[in-house]
Amino acid sequence: MLELHGVCVRYGKVDTLCDVTLCVPAGQTLAVVGESGAGKSTLIAAILGLVKLAAGQITWAGAPVHTCRPSLVMQEPRAAFNPVLPLRRSIMEPLTARAEQLSDARLAHICNRLELPIDLLDRKPGEVSIGQAQRAGILRALIAGSPLILFDEPLSALDAVTQKHTAQLIADLQDEMGFAALVVTHDLGYAAAFGDNIAVLRKGRVEEITPTHAFIQHPKSDYGEDLRQAAFALGALGYGA
Ligand SMILES: Nc1ncnc2c1ncn2[C@@H]1O[C@H](COP(=O)(O)OP(=O)(O)OP(=O)(O)O)[C@@H](O)[C@H]1O
Ligand SMILES: [Mg+2]
Repeated sequence: MLELHGVCVRYGKVDTLCDVTLCVPAGQTLAVVGESGAGKSTLIAAILGLVKLAAGQITWAGAPVHTCRPSLVMQEPRAAFNPVLPLRRSIMEPLTARAEQLSDARLAHICNRLELPIDLLDRKPGEVSIGQAQRAGILRALIAGSPLILFDEPLSALDAVTQKHTAQLIADLQDEMGFAALVVTHDLGYAAAFGDNIAVLRKGRVEEITPTHAFIQHPKSDYGEDLRQAAFALGALGYGA
């Protein structure tokens, strides 16, 4: 289980995250929603150990979070890869760094689940579509074998049809492989379709954490209600149903 307890991150004199306490049980998804600048990417950077905590702890199964080697799926799929290397090199990098092997059968299985033709991995990031690059990013996270995968706006670079398909694919792979997922998104429709719980982040503070089915009916915070109303107005809730 991922646990954050009283986490604060400060840039200069500004508290970008303030007293953030939340947890993600193994195998579950927490969707963190909030407006631009709320601190969502900073939350991910904190979990990855890329920024210093001004206060608080982040643990996985009671040990410092880095021990579980969390994986990241980035918002900008092509930027997540070295542009001059074939995708395969970048995808294998987390394993190569640990001198671990992956059987061809396992790689073929996961590629198949992601609907990624395996010979596509011999191309450079600029030679595949954005949707394919995003699935290659998910592939890299999956084969790294981490029990915790962080997704930063995993669908925002994709068109609506590909979004829906990719969201379902992530959910199916999670059922199969059992990783915990923390997804930050401003797409409440996606959050509601696939998050077990929804956390609302505003100005660096957690306003509420609510089971998704309860959030859809009745968010606890005023800001959560504003987000819900906005999503209804856009017709986004019911997405994935
Ligand atoms: N390295 C940094 N130094 C100073 N301020 C930063 C730094 N990184 C982020 N910030 C500020 O922290 C706040 C939160 O940024 P963050 O990137 O976490 O937001 P976000 O919720 O991910 O937004 P978006 O939805 O636009 O991606 C913003 O005001 C941002 O300008
Ligand atoms: Mg962000």
